[in-house]
Amino acid sequence: MKVAVIGCNGMLGTDVMAACRAVGIETLGLDLPSFDITRFDVVREHLPEVDRVVNCAAYVRVDDAETQRGQAYAVNAEGAGNVARICSAKGIGLIHLSTDYVFDGRKGAAYSETDPVNPLNVYGASKLAGEELVRGAGGRSVIVRTQSLFGVRGANFVRTIARRLKQSDEPLRVVNDQFMSPTYTRHLAEAIARLLQADREGIVNIAASGHCSWFEFAQAIAARVKPGAAVHPVSTAEFPRPAPRPAYSVLDTSRYREWTGTALPPWQKGLEEYLAEEKLA
Ligand SMILES: NC(=O)c1ccc[n+]([C@@H]2O[C@H](COP(=O)([O-])OP(=O)(O)OC[C@H]3O[C@@H](n4cnc5c(N)ncnc54)[C@H](OP(=O)(O)O)[C@@H]3O)[C@@H](O)[C@H]2O)c1
Repeated sequence: MKVAVIGCNGMLGTDVMAACRAVGIETLGLDLPSFDITRFDVVREHLPEVDRVVNCAAYVRVDDAETQRGQAYAVNAEGAGNVARICSAKGIGLIHLSTDYVFDGRKGAAYSETDPVNPLNVYGASKLAGEELVRGAGGRSVIVRTQSLFGVRGANFVRTIARRLKQSDEPLRVVNDQFMSPTYTRHLAEAIARLLQADREGIVNIAASGHCSWFEFAQAIAARVKPGAAVHPVSTAEFPRPAPRPAYSVLDTSRYREWTGTALPPWQKGLEEYLAEEKLA
């Protein structure tokens, strides 16, 4: 099987390339500047003849998106639509990445793929618009909703917390009223490689097993990186950010289990492996 990975230099795309290669899938990487999904002509002319496409390209700066709405929609909505239209025209199966931020987090329980969506921020709305364009393109597609990623290639919460702990003895303040499943991109990439070999269509949630608040996640990082460091819980109200976030966006991953017979490892295992890989603990 031959697979094109769009956004191949990003945090998830890098690991998807590696995970595919590890199981013998031939991979071709595409990314900016030469392959820009916002340009329909570029996608039409330069998307190679492959069996499947994995679209990891996105505008992911959640807070900046509040003031850069046009850019967020250009990549996350129109760009996703361009990829899906060309895949559909060429008969190529598409795996498209989306987010838990399509939900408002008010359900108070894990979200299944069929729960009503209601994004709270521009990033989430742009990703939802992308999902709709992917589904509307009419080809064979899987939309993977995932969340709270950390991986070797990109800026992420674990690295930020680990660096702050190493640089300063000031107590950290981290929100304790937003819950999610922190997901290691390497584990997600292995799941995507598995999905590529399954013949499925539709939306599927994929995230680490278990869940926690960002405060609990920071505590777990501190326990490994700097035992005894002070981490204090704060409320979202005390720590306002430009883009509102869902309070409880844990994803129900039972459909992924049904499809593949497997689940992602617990988030603690992802953290452990990531810290070892980055030599942060
Ligand atoms: N990070 C998270 O916590 C998270 C959570 C839920 C879902 N997701 C989703 O997971 C996917 C992967 O996210 P990630 O964290 O790996 O993002 P990332 O590290 O920012 O990677 C995205 C890649 O896409 C590229 N890109 C941006 N605009 C593009 C365009 N117009 N054409 C082609 N490539 C473009 C980026 O290039 P530049 O770096 O040069 O811009 C980058 O290499 C995205 O769909 C994201 O929405 C992420």
